[in-house]
Amino acid sequence: MNLVELLRRDHREFSEALSELEQLTSALESRFFPEDSPGLHAALDASVILGRLLPKLEKHEKLERRYLFPELARWSSEFEPILKRIEEEHQQVDRDMGRLLDLLPDIARRPGSEFLRELERLAQRLKKHIFVEEIEIYPMAEDSIPQERLEQLAARAQAERVGADDPLQADRN
Ligand SMILES: [Fe+2]
Ligand SMILES: [Fe+2]
Repeated sequence: MNLVELLRRDHREFSEALSELEQLTSALESRFFPEDSPGLHAALDASVILGRLLPKLEKHEKLERRYLFPELARWSSEFEPILKRIEEEHQQVDRDMGRLLDLLPDIARRPGSEFLRELERLAQRLKKHIFVEEIEIYPMAEDSIPQERLEQLAARAQAERVGADDPLQADRN
């Protein structure tokens, strides 16, 4: 597997999580979440999906920042403007994630509209970002970085990902 294939696989996972979240939105439209209401159940389901999605998204961005973008910049300075734009998008996604995470702990006590608005903001932004990477950035990487190098980077990225999931390893960092 090469680095771009590995990152595309993450994108598919994110898109699946986003469609799972979309299926919950009509239940989330209710103003309040009284006990045992469909809105409350949907909010709790959404928080489980987000609890899985957000750390993965963070790691994915980290791999792109550490392995893909600097490598692209090394191969051609023409890529700089688009990489700058992509990095700005990462920062926006990070801010959206932060707001959602802040809402999660007392989701049951807040108006549904607030959570829904933040969720939709993240979903729109992330979908657009994934689209741009899939049609512009990843093909650029496949065209300009040699296959062998992409495979080497994937091996490093995978080793880092395993290391980060290992609590003993994480303690050492
Ligand atoms: Fe990205
Ligand atoms: Fe990505």
